[in-house]
Amino acid sequence: MPKCIIDGREVEFTPGQNLIEAAKGAGIDIPLFCYHPGLSVVAQCRMCAVEIEKMPKLQTACSTLAAEGMVVKTKSQKTVENQKSVMEFLLANHPLDCPICDKSGECDLQDNSYKHGSAYSRTTEERRTYLDLDMGPVIKKNMNRCIHCTRCIRFGSEIAEIREMVALKRGNNTEITTIDGRPLETDYAGNYADICPTGSLTIKDFRFKKRVWFLEKVPTVCEGCSKGCNMEIHQDNNQIYRCVPRENKEINHYWLCDEGRFNFHYVEREDRLLDPARTKTSGLEVCDWASSIDLAKAALAGKNIAILVGSDLTQEEAAAVLQFKEQHYSQASIYHFGTPGILSTRDDAPEDRILKRKSKTANLNGLEKLGIRGFSKLSADVTGLLIIRGGRATLPADIDGVEKVGIGVFMKDQALMFSVILPGLSFAEKDGTILNYEGREQRIRRALQPPGQAKGLSEILMMWANRKTSHGAA
Ligand code: SF4
Ligand code: SF4
Ligand code: FES
Repeated sequence: MPKCIIDGREVEFTPGQNLIEAAKGAGIDIPLFCYHPGLSVVAQCRMCAVEIEKMPKLQTACSTLAAEGMVVKTKSQKTVENQKSVMEFLLANHPLDCPICDKSGECDLQDNSYKHGSAYSRTTEERRTYLDLDMGPVIKKNMNRCIHCTRCIRFGSEIAEIREMVALKRGNNTEITTIDGRPLETDYAGNYADICPTGSLTIKDFRFKKRVWFLEKVPTVCEGCSKGCNMEIHQDNNQIYRCVPRENKEINHYWLCDEGRFNFHYVEREDRLLDPARTKTSGLEVCDWASSIDLAKAALAGKNIAILVGSDLTQEEAAAVLQFKEQHYSQASIYHFGTPGILSTRDDAPEDRILKRKSKTANLNGLEKLGIRGFSKLSADVTGLLIIRGGRATLPADIDGVEKVGIGVFMKDQALMFSVILPGLSFAEKDGTILNYEGREQRIRRALQPPGQAKGLSEILMMWANRKTSHGAA
């Protein structure tokens, strides 16, 4: 590997890497604003300028490729003076509102100001001010805080493939906006807030709900479709506040779609059934676990059973169901379900040119690999259904007229179609393995403790198997 010298240290780099990435590989952070590894390089903010031997002027590290033998200084007097000047220039028009800004604690401007700026201001001029503006359902804009790095503009045109963010006017009056102030249209709008290095673009769903330093970050995988984008769940006190992308250059790079980002809300819906229950004509009646399992077994006793498993289950859960079927309902047929119109991986395909896929569950491929076929319609001889789902799989249509028992995550209105419901865990409450559309094996991780009386699937199946009732086997 070629080598260069950064701050007196010999640093190996991959040909084609810029100085920011080469330095990062050696643990040296060069401050920056406009550079983002997933976007084109524009070298606009000048914050990353460094001294390079034999070059008369400072050079921007984001737009300079590392070269064999290059000698770079990121902390020389000239470099530090430039950083201070850039910070002073950027802050000349920035409000002093970090204490009330939602980006506080994860703001590049705040961090760089603290590390590389000056503690004193020489300006006496009034800051320019704008009102906060809605940019559609996902993003709120505060132009007072914008530093015109153009990351958002480049994200729109280069990644979201929609040129919806533009810079209007010039100089002190430059304003980032959508054309004619229209709402953002992309299905990937949350990423605008992730990449904005200041509090100019924030997510409406999250802003002012929690200070970021209170959040525990759990690395996991999105369950929103068969792509398997990597993300983090941010939770505090057993409540999810947001999901953000986690870099994986092989799958989602740095991005998440909005559907996957906000999917977690069903986990905390007030109408989620968290107690074992049975349905009576008067509605749902909460029961204890032992009697619910007895009722579930009684409901299916003597029936010709089919087992339907959501393709939102993990490999471990699906394998446990297969074993349970062999031991206790060996005559039953078993199928998977999850997305209307998607019966197998052959029906799955990209939904757009960015990330989204047509299968709206994460483990369709995994269930097929376990030999489970897709459910198309109820055969006439089936008289009982055991339906097991995580929470994301869409319940199949046209399954009326047979006895039904449900295990997993159900809302109360969904629960009314079942005789008995045994509440299970969502993707955020369990560990497990899923296979994305291309067969990549990934782990989802538990971020929350099980809510209410909900239990893991293997525990429920074990209780079912071990409970002796007057209804005979299983
Ligand atoms: S809104 Fe944010 S991302 Fe866009 S130019 Fe301003 S600071 Fe940069
Ligand atoms: S593309 Fe699919 S896996 Fe990725 S964030 Fe969206 S829903 Fe989740
Ligand atoms: S990060 Fe290099 S000029 Fe902005």
